[in-house]
Amino acid sequence: MNQRSYRVAVLGGDGIGPEVTSAALEVVNAAGVNIATTTYDVGAARYLRDGFVLDDETLEQLGGFDAILLGAIGPAIGDTRIPGGILERGLLLRLRFGLDLYINYRPFQGVRGSIAQGCEFAIVRENTEGPYAGEGGVLRHGTAHEVATQGSVNTRFGVERCVRYAFERASKLVEPRLTLVHKTNVLTFAGELWSRVVREIGALYPNVQVDYNHVDAACIYLVENPQRYGIIVTDNLFGDILSDLAGAVTGGIGYAASANLNPERTSASLFEPVHGAAHDIAGTGKANPLAAVSSAVLMLEHLGEVEAASRVARAVQEFNGDVASLGTSGITKQLMENL
Ligand code: IPM
Ligand code: MN
Repeated sequence: MNQRSYRVAVLGGDGIGPEVTSAALEVVNAAGVNIATTTYDVGAARYLRDGFVLDDETLEQLGGFDAILLGAIGPAIGDTRIPGGILERGLLLRLRFGLDLYINYRPFQGVRGSIAQGCEFAIVRENTEGPYAGEGGVLRHGTAHEVATQGSVNTRFGVERCVRYAFERASKLVEPRLTLVHKTNVLTFAGELWSRVVREIGALYPNVQVDYNHVDAACIYLVENPQRYGIIVTDNLFGDILSDLAGAVTGGIGYAASANLNPERTSASLFEPVHGAAHDIAGTGKANPLAAVSSAVLMLEHLGEVEAASRVARAVQEFNGDVASLGTSGITKQLMENL
């Protein structure tokens, strides 16, 4: 069989991160896709040892892979040796900005017993602008006249490429629907740009039904009426908050997968489960690899391994074991049997 092989950088990270990425790679391998992995030691432990998060040379190397698979990053709860934000900005945001991973794509499927049982929708979040761009500063720090500003950057270029990607995704749904989520009644400058771009790009996709929700209303609908959504397109900060809510209503972020994409493929894209490092269960064999496996599904789709991707996705959907009693290896085994 003439099979393609892929070079994937594996950033296992901290806590359960390395366990869930190896489980995911085992399943990918069992699905018949050849992956040559290169492991990079990044995260809290590395930072504490060497004093840096991600150097320029590593960033550049990572961009050259076919894909990057990340486990989880972060110190144990209560470990205060690393100031908050250092790892998030130094690794995740550095990768997003440095590799121009301008789409954050998070699909959700309501698992049995969840509020959103049976619902399927995805959040397309702009991933390189908004308040995350770091515009702002501090004046007269620590005085009674202190000023702190934190701007939101919304460029025509950035909004347009995000909205285009969202419409592309929406147009391929069985029921093509797209909802812009923003706060246009208050955030009038950015809101008007997003609305106008959605109108303009929407005209090129007449099959897609377009809707708009204010972000606060979207928080109610996600809980009370999640079946109304197909693709939600939104800015970086709203997307961050909504995706945690979406994770919670569809069964918990233990299931949530995420892709940080460079759709033009000018660099590698990054795939990661949404959950954290869960140091308390690291090394016990109890880590749930389902979100990492679902992130690997997104990776396979991006690599063009569509058939393998849908086989693994189906195995995850059909998984009906007891997560707690099966543990990492039991879950992985059942997934491989279901392929
Ligand atoms: C996420 C995370 C990150 C974000 C943090 C860790 C910087 O919450 O991927 O959703 O805010 O985007
Ligand atoms: Mn988040």
